[in-house]
Amino acid sequence: MAAHQTPDKWSPDSWRKKPILQVPDYPDAAALADVESKLATYPPLVFAGEARDLKKSLATIASGHGFLLQGGDCAESFLEHRADNIRDFFRVFLQMAVVLTYAGGQPVVKVGRIAGQFAKPRSSPTEKKDGQELPSYRGDIINGPEFTSLARIPDPNRQIEAYRQSAATLNLIRAFATGGYADLERVHQWNMGFVQDSPQGHRYQELADRIAETMSFMRACGITSENTPQLRATNFYTSHEALLLGYEEALTRRDSTSGDWYATSGHMIWIGDRTRQPDHAHIEYCRGIKNPIGLKCGPTLDADGLLRLIDLINPKDEPGRLTLICRFGFDKVEAHLPKLIRAVKKAGRNVLWSCDPMHGNTISAATGYKTRPFDRILKESLSFFEVHRAEGTHAGGIHIEMTGQNVTECTGGATAISDQDLSDRYHTHCDPRLNADQALELAFLVAEQLKKERDADAKPEPKTLIA
Ligand code: PEP
Ligand code: CO
Repeated sequence: MAAHQTPDKWSPDSWRKKPILQVPDYPDAAALADVESKLATYPPLVFAGEARDLKKSLATIASGHGFLLQGGDCAESFLEHRADNIRDFFRVFLQMAVVLTYAGGQPVVKVGRIAGQFAKPRSSPTEKKDGQELPSYRGDIINGPEFTSLARIPDPNRQIEAYRQSAATLNLIRAFATGGYADLERVHQWNMGFVQDSPQGHRYQELADRIAETMSFMRACGITSENTPQLRATNFYTSHEALLLGYEEALTRRDSTSGDWYATSGHMIWIGDRTRQPDHAHIEYCRGIKNPIGLKCGPTLDADGLLRLIDLINPKDEPGRLTLICRFGFDKVEAHLPKLIRAVKKAGRNVLWSCDPMHGNTISAATGYKTRPFDRILKESLSFFEVHRAEGTHAGGIHIEMTGQNVTECTGGATAISDQDLSDRYHTHCDPRLNADQALELAFLVAEQLKKERDADAKPEPKTLIA
């Protein structure tokens, strides 16, 4: 579309007229349409007002203050939908947030890849094993992970199950976030048993001790978690990739207060690196809803391409609307990120810069497992901060795949998971995730970078010293 053309009128289904990638091949169109119309009658999972609150918080970060922590499973699974999994994810996430807030000295906005993160883009439409070729697994909302031809047939009823699981997950998380579990008085109890004896566990313990001391000082001053809701409860938001647009459309609702359209499947949704073609369906859908939007930026995105997408997704330059989630690979950040930052700065556009150090660093281990070396994840995160320091922009967030479980999916970290260890507890249905220990280690590293940024901001200007 040329700059002078106005885009066609948007509606929740206008994406259907556009080219689309990564769509499942449903064998029964009538059954699919049935499910979609059923979903369209179901209650929204989130409210427009909540999405607006999140947008406000993201706008503050984009203006240079605060930090976005976004993370969770690569793909949620029907099989692992259990209260203890949700709880363990939530406690590690809270630990990371506390590390970033306390050691990094920045308010943290918490957004989970959870309660809707089911649909997966795949690099190949088919998968081969022992001479047999089957359609790829596309996430539990579409088909099954088992390597059988039956499991791999897209089944629309899975969308109903994904909705149900999202609602149940969100219900539990809301209870955890506001019902006492997230109370800072419990900061010691978030440490997972298996983490307690690791170096990260000890480091966290020390930090928790300092927080507890501060809390007891505040209690002596009359500030307690009973009279101060900020100490007792936390804001937690949900997010997922808006890949399966029929599902998204069914949950797209008009907000009665503002008259605007919102995706009510989650607070924030993002567009994947494989489906961000400007004239295609995924950009079309996202441009019309008012939620905060994430855009994955990989090495194939150049500065002009990015500016065009910014124009489409955020034509009015609304603060907090757009988060650019950069995922270049540990050795490509310096070649790509500065160009994008400069172009956005020059165009005067308002964005939040976040770093996904996972998706550009996936390799095949010698043992055949798909893995991510932890040192590359750290390196990409560090480079992201370094580039932003050099460009004078705010490194505003981190986007990770993680779990509260003691899995062995990414190699390295303080417990030095080796290629040979991967088979011990490799549970992911899709990409390899950080385990609790590795997630904490990354949080401490990012906190150090945040502290550096804060200290640099607080330093007086040289001329002030002279005066
Ligand atoms: C993801 O976040 O799981 C994903 C597939 O990312 P990307 O689109 O950046 O490859
Ligand atoms: Co992934």
